[in-house]
Amino acid sequence: MSDITLLAIESSCDETSAAVIHNGIILSNIVAGQEVHSKYGGIVPELASRAHQQHIVPVVHEALAQAKIVKKQLNAVAFTGGPGLLGSLLVGVSYAKAFAKGLGVPIIRVNHMQAHILAHFIDDPKPAFPFLCLTVSGGHTQIVMVRGYLDMEVIGETQDDAVGEAFDKAAKMLGLPYPGGPLIDKYAALGNPLTYEFPHVDMPGLTYSFSGIKTAFLYFIQRHTKLNPDFVAQHLPDICASIQYTLIRILFSKLRKAVKETGVQRIAIAGGVSANKGLRKTLEEAAAEHQWEVFIPSFEYCTDNAAMIAMAGHYMYEKGLFEEWTFSPEPRLKI
Ligand code: KG4
Ligand code: ZN
Repeated sequence: MSDITLLAIESSCDETSAAVIHNGIILSNIVAGQEVHSKYGGIVPELASRAHQQHIVPVVHEALAQAKIVKKQLNAVAFTGGPGLLGSLLVGVSYAKAFAKGLGVPIIRVNHMQAHILAHFIDDPKPAFPFLCLTVSGGHTQIVMVRGYLDMEVIGETQDDAVGEAFDKAAKMLGLPYPGGPLIDKYAALGNPLTYEFPHVDMPGLTYSFSGIKTAFLYFIQRHTKLNPDFVAQHLPDICASIQYTLIRILFSKLRKAVKETGVQRIAIAGGVSANKGLRKTLEEAAAEHQWEVFIPSFEYCTDNAAMIAMAGHYMYEKGLFEEWTFSPEPRLKI
């Protein structure tokens, strides 16, 4: 096949990102975050859509400039079609359609969760198939059997909250700004993970549940602050280390079960929470203990970015998987 050069756009949540990929090699990956949500303790969808509209033109311009690619070299435009926030997705989808239509090139609709997994094919070492991927983000917690670039099956997932949501909600209860996951990670490094124990229910099979631990954590904070109003301030590192340890333990109990059930010992992690240092370390320790072959993405490709959309777009382009112009975003798109 001749050269493939794509522009990719990601706008599913609160990061506006654009990337350029040439024959499977990422040439640029620009990410603009949105500070506006931190004071609200969570993402405000309407503000996210507006911020995407402000960011998308300069972000795409910068991605093309850094890649030293001019528009007429592009063969297609890839974009996140879902899952994500409807208003945020709409900005990226409309922009991608208009951009591609103007150039007379096709569009490629990428599944955001597949793209998180395909981020593993940006850099070396790349996993061989099949492998299991623990995909952990603000909206999802899944164990995925990956048999090929575009051949994936969810074999376990959460029945309620995502683990990223559990991190963020715990952080909010501690008075930390949104998104709190990275802050829990930071303070956890300074604390003792065995200081506090949090009860949680073990779900059947490969199903996760994080809503119970969230409630247990809330009662724990309320109980201690009643006795000592400065409890959180005085014990923040130990509290963060303990809740992080529990969340990681829950993640790993099902992951170990999945390895046992499938016999697949090649394990990858993906999604925003895969940036967590405790999770990365635990995976490395498990690899040494069980002789697993593990794949941990570089930090820049853990949280939302368009490079992963570009990588997925590349494999879809090779298969001629183009989208109709009438496509509308799918907030609940499944793998
Ligand atoms: O994949 P992502 O960027 O967006 C979604 O698709 O949801 O994931 C965002 C989630 C947030 O919940 C954020 O708190 C969490 O990933 N996160 C972390 C860390 N970095 C990001 N959670 C724990 N530790 C981190 N270092
Ligand atoms: Zn994501």
